[in-house]
Amino acid sequence: MAEQHGHPIFARFYDRLLAGSEKGGLAEMRESLLAGASGRTLEIGAGTGLNLSHYNGAVTELVLAEPDPHMADRLRERVAAEPPAAPAVEVISAPAEELPFDDGDFDTVVSTLVLCTVEDPERALAEARRVLAPGGRLLFLEHVRAESPRLAWWQDRLERPWKRIGAGCHTNRPTGETLASAGLWIEHLERVRFPKSPHFLRPMIRGTATRPEGVTAEGG
Ligand SMILES: C[S@@+](CC[C@H](N)C(=O)[O-])C[C@H]1O[C@@H](n2cnc3c(N)ncnc32)[C@H](O)[C@@H]1O
Repeated sequence: MAEQHGHPIFARFYDRLLAGSEKGGLAEMRESLLAGASGRTLEIGAGTGLNLSHYNGAVTELVLAEPDPHMADRLRERVAAEPPAAPAVEVISAPAEELPFDDGDFDTVVSTLVLCTVEDPERALAEARRVLAPGGRLLFLEHVRAESPRLAWWQDRLERPWKRIGAGCHTNRPTGETLASAGLWIEHLERVRFPKSPHFLRPMIRGTATRPEGVTAEGG
């Protein structure tokens, strides 16, 4: 989980680090992903709030969970400066692996560029599934392990140094496979490219997965 003291320098430069990618197509990817958000919505690892302007009025309540206090400060500032379309917005400090909500509390859970960084992606996805209502949807946009063995080899070599620079980000996580075994029904998954990014971060997946109806939080 994000350390108690967080990552002040990463938080300070995060928006600038991503500015080229946002302009190069990442903002558009956020927009089309978040067009699918509706009802009570939870965003895990909300960062500095780069998704905020992309939520629309179908979101009735937006809970932004961010465990790093430096990211959370910037997130609060952005919520105040650029209020999202949702009528109710709350910022909370919580890791994705331990969400302080009851089973089935949300219609939508959003994860963008987060499963690369959480300490335990399996547990984070189990929590996302638990807090989703039956039929509720997880919207995801994540950079992942490359399909190309050559690029995956580079991702493995660069994992440790990049983790230090990128505040715990892993270059090489097989997040698509982790999602496939998370007890969610994958409605849509496509491979895309992280615009204007270093080659070892380029492979991405985006899509939606639904918590199946008619099964308990514990059951399949
Ligand atoms: C690369 S940033 C992505 C921020 C934002 N989601 C975005 O799309 O720009 C990764 C975020 O995950 C957060 N994070 C780290 N560990 C986490 C955890 N265990 N649970 C939830 N979020 C975590 C970091 O603090 C950071 O804000």
